[in-house]
Amino acid sequence: MEFITYETEGQIGIITINRPKALNALNSAVLGEIEETFDNVDLDNIRALVLTGAGDKSFVAGADIGEMSTLTKAEGEAFGKKGNDVFRKIETFPIPVIAAVNGFALGGGCEISMSCDIRICSENALFGQPEVGLGITPGFGGTQRLPRIIGVGKAKELIYTSFNIKADEAYRVGLVNAVYPQEELLDAAKKMANKIAKNAPIAVRACKKAINDGLDVDMDQAIVVEEKLFGSCFETEDQKAGMGNFLEKDKEKKLKVVPFKNA
Ligand code: CAA
Repeated sequence: MEFITYETEGQIGIITINRPKALNALNSAVLGEIEETFDNVDLDNIRALVLTGAGDKSFVAGADIGEMSTLTKAEGEAFGKKGNDVFRKIETFPIPVIAAVNGFALGGGCEISMSCDIRICSENALFGQPEVGLGITPGFGGTQRLPRIIGVGKAKELIYTSFNIKADEAYRVGLVNAVYPQEELLDAAKKMANKIAKNAPIAVRACKKAINDGLDVDMDQAIVVEEKLFGSCFETEDQKAGMGNFLEKDKEKKLKVVPFKNA
Protein backbone atom coordinates (compact mmCIF):
# COMPACT_ATOMS: atom_id res chain seq x y z
CA MET A 1 0.00 0.00 0.00
CA GLU A 2 1.27 3.45 -0.88
CA PHE A 3 -1.11 5.64 1.13
CA ILE A 4 -2.42 3.54 4.01
CA THR A 5 -0.71 1.95 6.95
CA TYR A 6 -2.49 -0.67 8.98
CA GLU A 7 -1.21 -1.85 12.34
CA THR A 8 -2.75 -4.08 14.94
CA GLU A 9 -2.27 -3.97 18.71
CA GLY A 10 -3.91 -6.95 20.37
CA GLN A 11 -7.57 -6.87 19.42
CA ILE A 12 -7.63 -3.40 17.85
CA GLY A 13 -6.52 -2.15 14.44
CA ILE A 14 -5.21 1.31 13.54
CA ILE A 15 -5.69 2.56 9.97
CA THR A 16 -3.66 5.65 9.04
CA ILE A 17 -4.22 7.65 5.87
CA ASN A 18 -0.77 8.78 4.81
CA ARG A 19 -0.45 11.14 1.86
CA PRO A 20 1.54 14.01 3.36
CA LYS A 21 2.12 16.00 0.17
CA ALA A 22 -1.63 16.62 -0.16
CA LEU A 23 -2.53 16.76 3.56
CA ASN A 24 -3.95 13.22 3.25
CA ALA A 25 -6.50 14.28 0.57
CA LEU A 26 -8.53 11.46 -0.92
CA ASN A 27 -7.89 10.62 -4.57
CA SER A 28 -9.11 7.44 -6.27
CA ALA A 29 -5.98 5.54 -5.30
CA VAL A 30 -6.36 6.45 -1.60
CA LEU A 31 -10.04 5.51 -1.67
CA GLY A 32 -9.14 2.17 -3.27
CA GLU A 33 -6.54 1.44 -0.60
CA ILE A 34 -8.93 2.35 2.22
CA GLU A 35 -11.44 -0.11 0.79
CA GLU A 36 -8.83 -2.83 0.43
CA THR A 37 -7.64 -2.25 4.00
CA PHE A 38 -11.15 -2.68 5.41
CA ASP A 39 -11.66 -5.77 3.21
CA ASN A 40 -8.57 -7.34 4.76
CA VAL A 41 -9.29 -6.66 8.45
CA ASP A 42 -9.14 -9.97 10.31
CA LEU A 43 -12.62 -9.97 11.83
CA ASP A 44 -11.88 -13.19 13.74
CA ASN A 45 -9.43 -11.32 15.94
CA ILE A 46 -9.96 -7.56 15.63
CA ARG A 47 -12.85 -6.02 17.57
CA ALA A 48 -12.55 -2.26 17.00
CA LEU A 49 -10.71 0.05 14.61
CA VAL A 50 -9.20 3.52 14.86
CA LEU A 51 -9.01 5.65 11.69
CA THR A 52 -6.61 8.60 11.68
CA GLY A 53 -4.41 10.74 9.43
CA ALA A 54 -0.60 10.80 9.36
CA GLY A 55 1.17 13.83 10.80
CA ASP A 56 -0.08 16.43 13.26
CA LYS A 57 -1.66 18.94 10.87
CA SER A 58 -4.29 17.11 8.87
CA PHE A 59 -6.70 14.24 9.31
CA VAL A 60 -7.94 14.44 5.70
CA ALA A 61 -8.07 17.75 3.75
CA GLY A 62 -10.93 16.55 1.55
CA ALA A 63 -11.38 14.84 -1.77
CA ASP A 64 -8.55 15.55 -4.18
CA ILE A 65 -9.36 18.85 -5.90
CA GLY A 66 -6.78 18.30 -8.64
CA GLU A 67 -8.34 14.98 -9.62
CA MET A 68 -11.88 16.40 -9.50
CA SER A 69 -11.08 19.57 -11.46
CA THR A 70 -11.42 18.02 -14.93
CA LEU A 71 -14.22 15.52 -14.32
CA THR A 72 -17.30 15.41 -16.56
CA LYS A 73 -20.79 15.19 -15.01
CA ALA A 74 -20.78 11.40 -15.41
CA GLU A 75 -17.26 11.08 -14.02
CA GLY A 76 -18.19 13.36 -11.11
CA GLU A 77 -21.14 11.14 -10.27
CA ALA A 78 -18.94 8.04 -10.50
CA PHE A 79 -16.32 9.65 -8.22
CA GLY A 80 -19.08 10.45 -5.70
CA LYS A 81 -20.27 6.86 -5.87
CA LYS A 82 -16.76 5.55 -5.33
CA GLY A 83 -16.39 7.64 -2.15
CA ASN A 84 -19.90 6.84 -0.99
CA ASP A 85 -19.39 3.09 -1.48
CA VAL A 86 -16.18 3.13 0.56
CA PHE A 87 -17.68 5.29 3.32
CA ARG A 88 -20.80 3.12 3.47
CA LYS A 89 -18.51 0.12 3.91
CA ILE A 90 -16.97 1.89 6.92
CA GLU A 91 -20.39 2.87 8.30
CA THR A 92 -21.75 -0.67 8.02
CA PHE A 93 -18.48 -2.41 8.91
CA PRO A 94 -19.29 -5.17 11.41
CA ILE A 95 -17.11 -3.74 14.19
CA PRO A 96 -16.97 -0.15 15.56
CA VAL A 97 -14.69 2.39 13.90
CA ILE A 98 -13.43 5.41 15.87
CA ALA A 99 -12.20 8.45 13.93
CA ALA A 100 -9.25 10.13 15.66
CA VAL A 101 -9.41 13.48 13.87
CA ASN A 102 -5.96 15.00 14.25
CA GLY A 103 -6.24 18.23 12.23
CA PHE A 104 -8.05 19.35 9.05
CA ALA A 105 -11.26 17.41 8.43
CA LEU A 106 -12.60 19.33 5.47
CA GLY A 107 -15.02 18.16 2.78
CA GLY A 108 -14.34 14.47 2.25
CA GLY A 109 -12.31 14.53 5.49
CA CYS A 110 -15.30 15.60 7.55
CA GLU A 111 -17.37 13.10 5.58
CA ILE A 112 -15.14 10.09 6.20
CA SER A 113 -15.10 10.93 9.92
CA MET A 114 -18.92 10.97 9.86
CA SER A 115 -19.02 7.48 8.36
CA CYS A 116 -17.20 6.27 11.48
CA ASP A 117 -19.20 5.30 14.57
CA ILE A 118 -17.54 7.77 16.93
CA ARG A 119 -15.40 10.88 16.40
CA ILE A 120 -12.86 12.32 18.81
CA CYS A 121 -10.45 15.08 17.82
CA SER A 122 -7.35 17.07 18.71
CA GLU A 123 -7.48 20.72 19.79
CA ASN A 124 -6.21 21.84 16.37
CA ALA A 125 -8.92 19.99 14.43
CA LEU A 126 -10.95 22.00 11.93
CA PHE A 127 -14.18 20.67 10.47
CA GLY A 128 -16.15 21.96 7.51
CA GLN A 129 -17.83 21.33 4.20
CA PRO A 130 -16.21 23.92 1.89
CA GLU A 131 -17.64 22.42 -1.31
CA VAL A 132 -20.02 25.24 -2.34
CA GLY A 133 -16.96 27.51 -2.50
CA LEU A 134 -15.57 25.09 -5.09
CA GLY A 135 -18.79 25.02 -7.11
CA ILE A 136 -19.95 21.56 -6.01
CA THR A 137 -22.05 19.94 -3.30
CA PRO A 138 -20.53 17.75 -0.60
CA GLY A 139 -20.24 14.45 -2.48
CA PHE A 140 -19.17 11.74 -0.05
CA GLY A 141 -22.26 11.78 2.18
CA GLY A 142 -21.98 15.23 3.78
CA THR A 143 -25.47 16.39 2.84
CA GLN A 144 -26.90 13.23 4.41
CA ARG A 145 -24.76 12.47 7.47
CA LEU A 146 -24.10 15.99 8.76
CA PRO A 147 -27.84 16.76 9.31
CA ARG A 148 -28.31 13.34 10.89
CA ILE A 149 -25.47 13.95 13.34
CA ILE A 150 -25.79 17.64 14.27
CA GLY A 151 -29.36 18.45 13.16
CA VAL A 152 -30.76 19.94 9.97
CA GLY A 153 -30.52 23.66 10.81
CA LYS A 154 -26.88 23.67 11.87
CA ALA A 155 -25.90 21.36 9.01
CA LYS A 156 -27.57 23.63 6.45
CA GLU A 157 -25.79 26.63 7.95
CA LEU A 158 -22.37 24.95 7.73
CA ILE A 159 -22.94 23.57 4.23
CA TYR A 160 -24.48 26.75 2.71
CA THR A 161 -21.95 29.14 4.27
CA SER A 162 -18.95 26.78 3.96
CA PHE A 163 -17.81 28.02 7.40
CA ASN A 164 -15.26 25.83 9.14
CA ILE A 165 -15.64 25.07 12.82
CA LYS A 166 -12.90 24.48 15.36
CA ALA A 167 -12.70 21.58 17.79
CA ASP A 168 -14.58 23.31 20.64
CA GLU A 169 -17.52 24.19 18.37
CA ALA A 170 -17.48 20.67 16.87
CA TYR A 171 -17.78 19.37 20.44
CA ARG A 172 -20.54 21.86 21.28
CA VAL A 173 -22.69 20.82 18.29
CA GLY A 174 -22.12 17.11 18.91
CA LEU A 175 -19.98 16.39 15.88
CA VAL A 176 -17.23 15.01 18.14
CA ASN A 177 -17.52 13.25 21.47
CA ALA A 178 -14.34 14.67 23.03
CA VAL A 179 -11.37 16.95 22.36
CA TYR A 180 -7.78 16.08 23.40
CA PRO A 181 -4.36 17.70 23.13
CA GLN A 182 -2.82 16.44 19.88
CA GLU A 183 -0.25 14.25 21.67
CA GLU A 184 -2.97 12.47 23.68
CA LEU A 185 -5.47 11.86 20.87
CA LEU A 186 -4.29 8.54 19.48
CA ASP A 187 -3.87 7.00 22.93
CA ALA A 188 -7.38 8.16 23.84
CA ALA A 189 -8.76 6.56 20.67
CA LYS A 190 -6.89 3.32 21.35
CA LYS A 191 -8.08 3.31 24.95
CA MET A 192 -11.69 3.63 23.77
CA ALA A 193 -11.16 0.91 21.14
CA ASN A 194 -9.66 -1.40 23.79
CA LYS A 195 -12.59 -0.75 26.10
CA ILE A 196 -14.96 -1.77 23.30
CA ALA A 197 -12.78 -4.82 22.54
CA LYS A 198 -13.14 -6.07 26.13
CA ASN A 199 -16.91 -6.43 25.75
CA ALA A 200 -18.74 -9.35 24.17
CA PRO A 201 -18.00 -9.02 20.43
CA ILE A 202 -21.24 -10.58 19.22
CA ALA A 203 -23.18 -8.14 21.39
CA VAL A 204 -21.12 -5.11 20.28
CA ARG A 205 -21.64 -5.99 16.61
CA ALA A 206 -25.36 -6.50 17.23
CA CYS A 207 -25.55 -3.06 18.93
CA LYS A 208 -23.94 -1.38 15.92
CA LYS A 209 -26.32 -3.12 13.53
CA ALA A 210 -29.34 -2.37 15.71
CA ILE A 211 -28.51 1.35 15.92
CA ASN A 212 -27.68 1.70 12.20
CA ASP A 213 -30.55 -0.39 10.84
CA GLY A 214 -33.06 1.04 13.33
CA LEU A 215 -32.28 4.61 12.31
CA ASP A 216 -33.20 3.80 8.69
CA VAL A 217 -36.78 2.74 9.48
CA ASP A 218 -39.74 3.95 11.55
CA MET A 219 -40.00 3.16 15.27
CA ASP A 220 -42.39 0.20 14.83
CA GLN A 221 -39.91 -1.51 12.53
CA ALA A 222 -36.94 -0.28 14.55
CA ILE A 223 -37.97 -2.05 17.71
CA VAL A 224 -38.39 -5.27 15.72
CA VAL A 225 -34.83 -4.80 14.45
CA GLU A 226 -33.75 -4.54 18.09
CA GLU A 227 -35.79 -7.57 19.18
CA LYS A 228 -34.19 -9.77 16.53
CA LEU A 229 -30.66 -8.68 17.38
CA PHE A 230 -31.34 -8.91 21.13
CA GLY A 231 -32.61 -12.47 20.58
CA SER A 232 -29.59 -13.35 18.45
CA CYS A 233 -27.31 -12.85 21.48
CA PHE A 234 -28.99 -15.58 23.51
CA GLU A 235 -27.52 -19.08 23.69
CA THR A 236 -24.13 -17.65 22.73
CA GLU A 237 -21.17 -18.56 24.90
CA ASP A 238 -20.67 -14.88 25.68
CA GLN A 239 -24.21 -14.45 26.97
CA LYS A 240 -23.96 -17.58 29.09
CA ALA A 241 -20.55 -16.59 30.48
CA GLY A 242 -21.46 -12.91 30.95
CA MET A 243 -24.69 -13.58 32.81
CA GLY A 244 -23.31 -16.66 34.57
CA ASN A 245 -20.51 -14.60 36.03
CA PHE A 246 -22.92 -11.96 37.29
CA LEU A 247 -25.10 -14.55 38.94
CA GLU A 248 -22.09 -16.24 40.55
CA LYS A 249 -22.28 -15.77 44.32
CA ASP A 250 -18.51 -15.78 44.70
CA LYS A 251 -17.48 -12.08 44.53
CA GLU A 252 -14.09 -12.92 43.00
CA LYS A 253 -15.66 -14.87 40.16
CA LYS A 254 -18.42 -12.31 39.74
CA LEU A 255 -15.87 -9.63 38.90
CA LYS A 256 -13.77 -11.90 36.70
CA VAL A 257 -13.31 -10.62 33.15
CA VAL A 258 -15.09 -12.97 30.77
CA PRO A 259 -12.88 -14.16 27.89
CA PHE A 260 -15.46 -13.19 25.30
CA LYS A 261 -15.45 -15.01 21.96
CA ASN A 262 -15.72 -13.72 18.43
CA ALA A 263 -18.55 -15.00 16.27
N1 CAA B 1 -6.98 18.19 -2.74
C1 CAA B 1 -5.75 18.18 -3.33
N2 CAA B 1 -4.65 18.73 -2.76
C2 CAA B 1 -4.80 19.30 -1.56
C3 CAA B 1 -6.04 19.33 -0.88
C4 CAA B 1 -7.16 18.74 -1.52
N3 CAA B 1 -8.37 18.68 -0.94
N4 CAA B 1 -5.88 19.99 0.30
C5 CAA B 1 -4.59 20.32 0.36
N5 CAA B 1 -3.92 19.92 -0.75
C6 CAA B 1 -2.51 20.11 -1.09
C7 CAA B 1 -2.21 21.54 -1.53
O1 CAA B 1 -2.54 21.71 -2.91
C8 CAA B 1 -0.73 21.64 -1.25
O2 CAA B 1 -0.06 21.00 -2.28
P1 CAA B 1 1.30 21.70 -2.89
O3 CAA B 1 2.24 21.77 -1.72
O4 CAA B 1 1.72 20.77 -3.97
O5 CAA B 1 0.89 23.05 -3.35
C9 CAA B 1 -0.56 20.78 0.00
O6 CAA B 1 -1.71 19.94 0.08
C10 CAA B 1 -0.51 21.62 1.26
O7 CAA B 1 -1.64 22.45 1.28
P2 CAA B 1 -1.58 24.02 1.54
O8 CAA B 1 -0.29 24.58 1.06
O9 CAA B 1 -2.83 24.62 0.98
O10 CAA B 1 -1.59 24.04 3.14
P3 CAA B 1 -2.17 25.19 4.08
O11 CAA B 1 -1.73 24.83 5.45
O12 CAA B 1 -1.81 26.53 3.55
O13 CAA B 1 -3.74 25.06 3.96
C11 CAA B 1 -5.85 23.88 3.93
C12 CAA B 1 -4.38 23.90 4.43
C13 CAA B 1 -6.64 25.00 4.59
C14 CAA B 1 -6.41 22.52 4.34
C15 CAA B 1 -5.85 24.04 2.40
O14 CAA B 1 -4.94 23.12 1.83
C16 CAA B 1 -7.19 23.79 1.81
O15 CAA B 1 -8.08 24.63 1.87
N6 CAA B 1 -7.39 22.58 1.19
C17 CAA B 1 -8.60 22.25 0.53
C18 CAA B 1 -9.70 21.92 1.50
C19 CAA B 1 -10.99 21.63 0.79
O16 CAA B 1 -11.55 22.47 0.13
N7 CAA B 1 -11.49 20.39 0.92
C20 CAA B 1 -12.71 19.96 0.29
C21 CAA B 1 -12.44 19.35 -1.03
S1 CAA B 1 -13.93 19.07 -1.95
C22 CAA B 1 -14.55 17.61 -1.37
O17 CAA B 1 -14.07 17.03 -0.44
C23 CAA B 1 -15.73 17.11 -2.16
C24 CAA B 1 -16.46 15.96 -1.58
O18 CAA B 1 -17.28 16.11 -0.70
C25 CAA B 1 -16.28 14.64 -2.13
